[in-house]
Amino acid sequence: MKFFIDTANLAQIKEAQELGVLDGVTTNPSLMAKEGITGRNNILKHYVDICKIVDGDVSAEVISTDLKGMIKEGEELAELNEQIVVKVPMIKDGIKAIKYFTDKGIRTNCTLVFSCGQALLAAKAGATYVSPFIGRLDDISTDGLNLISEIRHIYDNYDFQTQILAASVRHTMHVIDCAKLGADVMTGPLSAIEGLLKHPLTDSGLAKFLEDYQKGN
Ligand code: E4P
Repeated sequence: MKFFIDTANLAQIKEAQELGVLDGVTTNPSLMAKEGITGRNNILKHYVDICKIVDGDVSAEVISTDLKGMIKEGEELAELNEQIVVKVPMIKDGIKAIKYFTDKGIRTNCTLVFSCGQALLAAKAGATYVSPFIGRLDDISTDGLNLISEIRHIYDNYDFQTQILAASVRHTMHVIDCAKLGADVMTGPLSAIEGLLKHPLTDSGLAKFLEDYQKGN
């Protein structure tokens, strides 16, 4: 399973990259705003800065909701760097835009996916990634992980090449469960990735090893 970090914070992206297990970055307009990145030019520059830090794919989201606008924005984003994947919302014109980009060889991430039907459409349009938001489903008492499982089943039935990018991952157990269910990618905060490191027996075992080493020296 690929690990993407879901942030526009350059320090956190660097930290995840330095860990050596990072495969890419996802951003969205809210994450950009959280870092105080506003205005088209600053946002485009920020994408370029992110691409300089990581080796893998960087999802950059369009904010237009009509086909013409999405195509214009998406083409501009794709030209920034070959790592850019154009993130397109799951709406009618979004599906048309994904089909357009697919035919032009521009990679896409279909975002704001909350149902199997939406995931099926994204795959049919040729999306590179589909992003089911598991945390936001959990937030409304709906099993987000079950959606990952169902999409995996559907995609495997037909050998769709669209990669399941489990998004809105909130914590470490989400990461582990996504891996069990066969998600191709997960995107989450640095804390969810670093949480995988933790086990009290590792800490106490290491403390004992160091203590015993000191006794013998
Ligand atoms: C996906 O690409 C989104 O940026 C993200 O995962 C949304 O997560 P949230 O529900 O924690 O905002």
